Amino acid sequence: MKVLGINGSHRKGSTLKLLEVAFNEIDEKIEKEIISLSDYEIGYCKLCGACKKNGGICVLKDGFQEISEKMKSADFIIIGSPVYFGSVSGKLKSLFDRSRALRVNWELKNKFCGGIAVGATIHGGQEHTLQAIHSWALIHGMVVIGDTSPTAHFGGAAVAKQKDENFEFNPEGVETVKSLGRHINEIAAMLK
Ligand SMILES: Cc1cc2nc3c(=O)[nH]c(=O)nc-3n(C[C@H](O)[C@H](O)[C@H](O)COP(=O)(O)O)c2cc1C
Repeated sequence: MKVLGINGSHRKGSTLKLLEVAFNEIDEKIEKEIISLSDYEIGYCKLCGACKKNGGICVLKDGFQEISEKMKSADFIIIGSPVYFGSVSGKLKSLFDRSRALRVNWELKNKFCGGIAVGATIHGGQEHTLQAIHSWALIHGMVVIGDTSPTAHFGGAAVAKQKDENFEFNPEGVETVKSLGRHINEIAAMLK
């Protein structure tokens, strides 16, 4: 079993911190990796159509190839995004759009996908951002997961207040993030 976390922020900040919180809840026996999109160049999908004709290979050569190999090898994909104007970050949206190449042969189908959204404000669009992540996953034929009981809603949804280099998170939000991590343990145990 492998869990891949993708930090969709343009920097290594609150989204990465919350992915780490979720991953701390995941059993030691499960392989885990977190990557940050800020370490990759990801160009825009231009709808050139090449991937549809050549068996799902994107002709743009950049960070997408490495990320797509990591996604293909994962059983669970946890997408973290800062809330940008009520939705995912531009870089994450670029990754989503480029992943159209993986849909040619349904390479993400039946993987489990959960989301973590963090904004600077309460009611700042965390649930809309999670919805955007869920839409991406559903369109790939993935199985969408939220946070498990006792929080059990749409995934990790948190507020971060930045103080210099540090972040202060709302405790309720941190609970949803931890609960999402524990949900992976429950599903992994069920799959065994
Ligand atoms: C372009 C932009 C748009 C943003 N829009 C929102 C928003 O709609 N709602 C919100 O709560 N926070 C918004 N924020 C704040 C970020 O979501 C918040 O600071 C988040 O913690 C940043 O994540 P990071 O530390 O991983 O980069 C926005 C920030 C930026 C840069």
